[in-house]
Amino acid sequence: MREFILSPSLLSSDFGNLRAELTALEDAGLKWVHWDVMDGAFVPNITFGPPIIGRLRKTSKLFFDVHLMIERPERYIREFADAGADLLCIHAESTLHLERTISAIREAGMKTGLALNPATPLAIVDYLLPSLDMVLIMSVNPGFGGQSFIPFCKDKIAALSGMIRARGLETLIQVDGGVTLDNAKELFDLGADVLVSGSAFFGFPPYAERHKAFQDAMRA
Ligand code: DX5
Ligand code: ZN
Repeated sequence: MREFILSPSLLSSDFGNLRAELTALEDAGLKWVHWDVMDGAFVPNITFGPPIIGRLRKTSKLFFDVHLMIERPERYIREFADAGADLLCIHAESTLHLERTISAIREAGMKTGLALNPATPLAIVDYLLPSLDMVLIMSVNPGFGGQSFIPFCKDKIAALSGMIRARGLETLIQVDGGVTLDNAKELFDLGADVLVSGSAFFGFPPYAERHKAFQDAMRA
């Protein structure tokens, strides 16, 4: 069976206790954590940036999966590398210079990710696919947690999975937005490797039990 990775989105965690939240995730057996960086311009919301991520990097062994929802992310590649991001995912809609920015992420020593808003066609990944470690299919419009999954994104996951397999690549597919215990297995079966969960994870402690519930769902 393919490996299933759960990446809890800190957007729904207790921002006043981020250090404790990271420790709790590690104790619950999680390997990845998802950081939603928002600039108030690409999306309406504002969250955190390199100083906070860098400070918490010192206290955590988790794989830092950093989702940038910021305009012109090429301005901050070095800052996120220095902060200790393991994977840096930029939005296809956020810069005119995707190839240059993806190359800069790789050269800075991080894994590369490209995120697509729900309405953005898959065609945009075509030439870049061999340079990407992960493609993020947004299944809600970015900016907020707790929204409902947009159904047509299922077709997009299946189509992307077909593209990756047809080319013999190992690019991971991440799905972010509206993931719940009820749809997780279906999304995995469609081809998602990494599921991001905010409200459906942090709203249901203890985390070890919630983590296990997601893993069990995959075997159902
Ligand atoms: C939305 C973020 C998501 C968000 C998901 O812009 O990218 O990571 O936290 O939240 P849920 O899982 O509650 O839809
Ligand atoms: Zn996200």
